[in-house]
Amino acid sequence: MNAPLSAAALYDRVAHVVPKAEWLSFEDDIDAILRLKRERNAVILAHNYQTPEIFHGVADIVGDSLALAREATKVEADVIVLAGVHFMAETAKLLNPEKTVLIPDMGAGCSLADSITPEDIALLRQAHPGVPVVTYVNTSAAVKAASDICCTSGNAKRVVESLGVPKVLMLPDEYLAKNIARETDIELIAWHGHCEVHELFTAEDVREMRAAWPGVTIIAHPECPPDVVAEADFSGSTAGMSDYVGSAKPGRVVLLTECSMSDNVSVQHPDVDFVRPCNLCPHMKRISLANIRAALEENRHEVTVDPEIAADARRAVERMLAV
Ligand code: 13P
Ligand code: SF4
Repeated sequence: MNAPLSAAALYDRVAHVVPKAEWLSFEDDIDAILRLKRERNAVILAHNYQTPEIFHGVADIVGDSLALAREATKVEADVIVLAGVHFMAETAKLLNPEKTVLIPDMGAGCSLADSITPEDIALLRQAHPGVPVVTYVNTSAAVKAASDICCTSGNAKRVVESLGVPKVLMLPDEYLAKNIARETDIELIAWHGHCEVHELFTAEDVREMRAAWPGVTIIAHPECPPDVVAEADFSGSTAGMSDYVGSAKPGRVVLLTECSMSDNVSVQHPDVDFVRPCNLCPHMKRISLANIRAALEENRHEVTVDPEIAADARRAVERMLAV
């Protein structure tokens, strides 16, 4: 994605999801951020759940967790600003130990990352000797360091099957593990972590949507409960959801995921009608143009990873990227 040159020139891109009056209130911050990026030789990596003024206004690289990790290995800039949550910034730092990695708000956490500790993994290893541990990237660097390999929702099946074993500990998202278990013969032992955004969707919601909008296509993120995914037409990572809209070109679609996804995807597919029952991620929504600007102006908040754990955590991430 090429960064735009001025906020005003950009408006056409987002016109059908952002009212002009609202955009005018963003223009000063967007122009300042574009200038600061040039001055500081910085790039902004933004997750698909960032609001359109960030996603389409100032981001240089956008994508799902897997794409952000992959792209982080190719960054040549001196400074990376991660418009997303803390585990994503930590992953970028693991892959770029020499660069400055900033997150605009240190409080941008994740209920999945908070659900498990390295001590939990040690106990699970004792209970399941010899069973490899696959951890979702939505975890702290310390948890990654305690695991054998990472995965994302975009490559989870490929990662567990790459290990060539009949049984795998797949942590910490119970629903992701159960959804992947339906697609593979490998036995997956799950943990009890949940995404606080996706766990709110129910199979009853899916049925009500089908009744309200006959013929609607329903796409669910694999962090949704398994009965929701079972009733959806397609399930995939945030990038998978976006690609599916592009290839299936449904007339009307529901994305069972975080709210900004529909705004961002609809910019690329203005002919598709997006029905918007969605849930906000309070962590992703801590990131704003104002705090991205402050991050670049004041070099805050720098993300570091304890060198004692960085090497092992990097190994788990790099092993995933090699699959
Ligand atoms: P993906 O973008 O990898 O699908 O992950 C979704 C998510 O919840 C990130 O926080
Ligand atoms: Fe974590 Fe869920 Fe928010 Fe993603 S959407 S950052 S998994 S709480």
